[in-house]
Amino acid sequence: MTKKSDLAWWQRTIAYEVYPKSFLDTANQGTGTIAGITQRLDYLSSLGVGAIWVTPCYKSPMVDNGYDVEDYRQIDPSFGTMADMEELIAKGGEHGIRIVMDLVFNHTSDQCPWFRESRSSRDNAHADWYVWRDARADGSAPTNWRSIFGGSAWAWCEERQQYYLHTFAPQQPDLNWENPDVRQALIDIANFWVGKGVGGFRIDAITYIKKPAVLSDGPADGEDGMYSVHAATANTPGILDFLHEFKAAVRDGRDIFFVGEANGVAAEDLGAWVGERGVFDMLFEFSHTHVPMGAAEVWCRPAEWRLTDLKRVLTESQEHTKENGWYPIFFENHDQPRSTVNFFRCEGSAAAKAKALGTVLLTLRGTPFIMQGQELGYDNRVWGSVDEFDDLQTRSQYEFALGEGFTAEQALAACNRFSRDNARTPMQWDASANGGFSSVTPWLPVHDDYQQVNSETESADPESPLSWFRRLAALRDEREELVTGDYEELMPSSEQVYAYRRAGERSTCVVLANLSADEVSYDTLLVSGMTPLVGTHGEALVGTLRPLEAVVFGS
Ligand code: GLC
Repeated sequence: MTKKSDLAWWQRTIAYEVYPKSFLDTANQGTGTIAGITQRLDYLSSLGVGAIWVTPCYKSPMVDNGYDVEDYRQIDPSFGTMADMEELIAKGGEHGIRIVMDLVFNHTSDQCPWFRESRSSRDNAHADWYVWRDARADGSAPTNWRSIFGGSAWAWCEERQQYYLHTFAPQQPDLNWENPDVRQALIDIANFWVGKGVGGFRIDAITYIKKPAVLSDGPADGEDGMYSVHAATANTPGILDFLHEFKAAVRDGRDIFFVGEANGVAAEDLGAWVGERGVFDMLFEFSHTHVPMGAAEVWCRPAEWRLTDLKRVLTESQEHTKENGWYPIFFENHDQPRSTVNFFRCEGSAAAKAKALGTVLLTLRGTPFIMQGQELGYDNRVWGSVDEFDDLQTRSQYEFALGEGFTAEQALAACNRFSRDNARTPMQWDASANGGFSSVTPWLPVHDDYQQVNSETESADPESPLSWFRRLAALRDEREELVTGDYEELMPSSEQVYAYRRAGERSTCVVLANLSADEVSYDTLLVSGMTPLVGTHGEALVGTLRPLEAVVFGS
């Protein structure tokens, strides 16, 4: 069995996702700054964090909050300066925390100089850097593909008299990875950031970079007569060749890591994507978030699900990366609703749910990724009207629901349930105005519960989600098997309890997390000879789990 000391730093640590616009505003402007992240490094250290994934903070028109990059080598002035970023990297290093940048390489902003030139004519130095196609004979778009944010995936360009492809919003034109100059430019950007001392990269929307040789219509899959661009282009054969080239030029021989955002890679294909033969060290795939949302990601038609569905996909991914590869464990990110709503079908407080699921997050095999606010037990916010949302995907899901015949009330309920803005409301640091996030009105409303749910109040409360996350981070550090141990699922048919064993060479843990509001009994043989190490409800009862109780036993 691997020893902890044989593992790479990014396998032993805990990662934390910062959405900088909502983390901490040091400039009295209502949006967060890079300097705000530097100010909170001690806080992140207290959670055992060794890597911070910072979502895009490059110069951007911010149509998709930075996922529309204008200049990959500049920091957007709203976040600060390159000197602020260099300071974060340096001070992070002093805390044993490395910075992970987000590479948005499927597309750029339409304001990126490459695109400005590309769109200006069919004959210029960047003419072939994007995916351009002629209109059909009747002037309509080249294919019937629906973009991920709704509407046609093609936008018409007057200057060129051609359409360009945008998998996401029209302001996010897709790059043409078939062009070797594009690939080299992206490699150079990544190496620019390696030169700044970053610890790795989260690589955005990577499954879409390769398009099929012939772009053609697909069968309509909605009332709009369109076909999802995801179904048309995700994981086109040949994609791994591009990624191997990129890895060899950026990753090989360096002590950094790559985590790819790879929606649609099946668990059985993980071997080609991660580990020794693969292109990434870890891969965010979404089979577990699809359990409540449905793989089509149509918010007004969520899936019917049971706990066994969730446990099955989690176990599958644990098993597929057992011999080869490593897994990022996550239940939240900036594209998901809060896990306290998303992965529970029962009553109970958000705090109790956050602690129960947080136990799983920090004890499965893999690198846990905490989304900012998750450690405080954030709940979804209640949004009173569609106008309160900032996120462009939320507005398009709302329109889509109306187009599919849902009422305005139903469409709003679907957005309340799944909106990405639930994950993006400001961090709550204390009980003062705006939760201590900013001295002025924040860009998105602070959650109403900020007087109880904030890091200062929770630090003083040993029963809070924050204290629980800290305790578990410390336990993960003490118990080698929680990092290196094998995973074996227990009680697989239970619809209430997620239970598993993490067996190491010398010691073993058993995790029992009751993700339901029922009191549940379990077979004490599962934990015979073991003692409870930590529990959410004080002293553990033998053979019984109270509603939303989680206990870690150890031998
Ligand atoms: C990824 C990001 C998401 C963004 C999209 C387009 O899925 O996580 O936030 O909107 O890519 O860049």
